[in-house]
Amino acid sequence: MSIRIVGIGSALPEKKMTNNEIAEMVETSDEWIRERTGIVSRHVSTGETVASLAADACLRALEQAGKRAEDVELILVATCSPEEALPCGACQVQEKIGASKAVAFDINAACAGFLFALHTAWAYVEAGIYENALIAGSEVLSKLVDWSDRGTCILFGDGAGAVLVEKCDTGGLMSFTQHSDGRKGFVLSCGNRQLSNPFVRPMHEEKYVQMDGREVFSFAVKQIPLTIEEALKKANLTPENVDLFVLHQANKRIIEGIAKRLGVDISRFPMNLERVGNTSSAAIPVLLDELHRKGIIRRGQTIVLSGFGAGLSCGACVIEW
Ligand code: COA
Repeated sequence: MSIRIVGIGSALPEKKMTNNEIAEMVETSDEWIRERTGIVSRHVSTGETVASLAADACLRALEQAGKRAEDVELILVATCSPEEALPCGACQVQEKIGASKAVAFDINAACAGFLFALHTAWAYVEAGIYENALIAGSEVLSKLVDWSDRGTCILFGDGAGAVLVEKCDTGGLMSFTQHSDGRKGFVLSCGNRQLSNPFVRPMHEEKYVQMDGREVFSFAVKQIPLTIEEALKKANLTPENVDLFVLHQANKRIIEGIAKRLGVDISRFPMNLERVGNTSSAAIPVLLDELHRKGIIRRGQTIVLSGFGAGLSCGACVIEW
């Protein structure tokens, strides 16, 4: 038994921000950003929230599947940038789309979040607890980024993607693997509200993304090929058997490095980061939706998904679409 993606959708904020607009705010250039990252523009919220984007993406996934919100049993929202500590984004989505029967909660595994949520849904279905799940990756990272830090503000974008998965007897999710290394947490971090109570006053207010870009880069290029090979081995497959590698959209050079290490032509690594930037947990489902709408993804294809990021966390899975 496994799970199969039966519906997919995405939602991006209306406002598009180009590299040139960023170059008006910090000392950088369109040329530098394109060359080092592959990013040309990204969508930035002017009011859209993690919950509103996730709900829009979920409604599109349901519509595409021809299914009703009332029949959804589980809603998982992967996010590291919720507006509210309470209630969680998934409960807000449940209310917005009218999925009254569903159990709903959030998962935070940063840029690996969507994959970890997909694997969690698989586990619930495999255990016989639920037969379907709506899984969204949704981020409004623009509020976590220091817009005066040129090392990070150029990278990220806002958006959401969602899939509806259902129990299936053949095909679907064939294998997965996931890893976390908390010892490297300092490499990519973001503060939250500091301890403040009658006994303690906050020492400092550090609430923006801090990153050692080179460390993240080398982690991804070294670890992801191994993680993908591990997932493929579990499915008794090799990279040659894979039609498409849909990877977390962090940096074009990272994806090129991973393709090279796997010995796979870059044409099998579709990208949309030039138009959306790094949308963290939303990146994989946003790209999947785009590829599906363009007819590039078709039933029966073997597809590898892989996500990596803060934690440090990473994962990969093999699916038969
Ligand atoms: N514009 C112009 N110059 C910039 C710049 C910018 N936006 N950002 C950094 N620089 C400068 C640095 O200050 C440095 O200058 P110096 O040599 O005078 O000190 C120089 O460019 C090189 O910096 P470095 O950090 O070594 O560049 P890089 O080639 O590693 O590229 C990243 C930086 C962030 C693009 C790259 O490390 C990266 O993409 N890492 C992965 C980040 C990521 O994907 N994070 C999310 C993972 S989920």
